[in-house]
Amino acid sequence: MSNDGVNAGRRRFLVAATSVVGAAGAVGAAVPFVGSWFPSAKAKAAGAPVKVNVSKIEPGQQMIAEWRGQPVFIVRRTAEILGNLKKIEGQLSDPTSKNSTQPTYVDPEVRSIKPEILLLIGICTHLGCSPTFRPEVAPADLGKDWVGGYFCPCHGSHYDLAGRVYKSQPAPLNLPVPPHSYETDDLIVIGVDTEKA
Ligand code: FES
Repeated sequence: MSNDGVNAGRRRFLVAATSVVGAAGAVGAAVPFVGSWFPSAKAKAAGAPVKVNVSKIEPGQQMIAEWRGQPVFIVRRTAEILGNLKKIEGQLSDPTSKNSTQPTYVDPEVRSIKPEILLLIGICTHLGCSPTFRPEVAPADLGKDWVGGYFCPCHGSHYDLAGRVYKSQPAPLNLPVPPHSYETDDLIVIGVDTEKA
């Protein structure tokens, strides 16, 4: 066999081997891509991002989504609610959320990307009950100074409508803000950071 014959054979082998690797690579790349569009129930529970359309939330009202098996409160705040956040700062334990959990890209006082849309993990920072949404002003059971917020029925912690806990409550910290980003004006992706979106 001449050198040419050897080289030609070797070339054929290399071409064939490359094609196989290419095909395997393509299959390998396709699996996580498909997986990211159709997460299984197990993958969802483990932390897949969740998309939520917030267009139907009325001003002053809340919807509850689920992410990583946890409730996520989503509130459309009015100008009045936003104005009250400033007024009650003196009554709060951590008004600028220095010790509390939220992504770096949310305002630490208003605690959201867009002022009007608030997202919170709905689990009390005391012992993990789910606080009740109480947006009404001065209801009989919460007193004349109540400007709307969350009340935890388990041991009575009070939070405002930025998830900030009042002073001298059983709960030590503000409700956490989950990582999130906007895919469109009304479509929020919970679990994907704005900085990485
Ligand atoms: S679990 Fe909410 S106050 Fe104790």
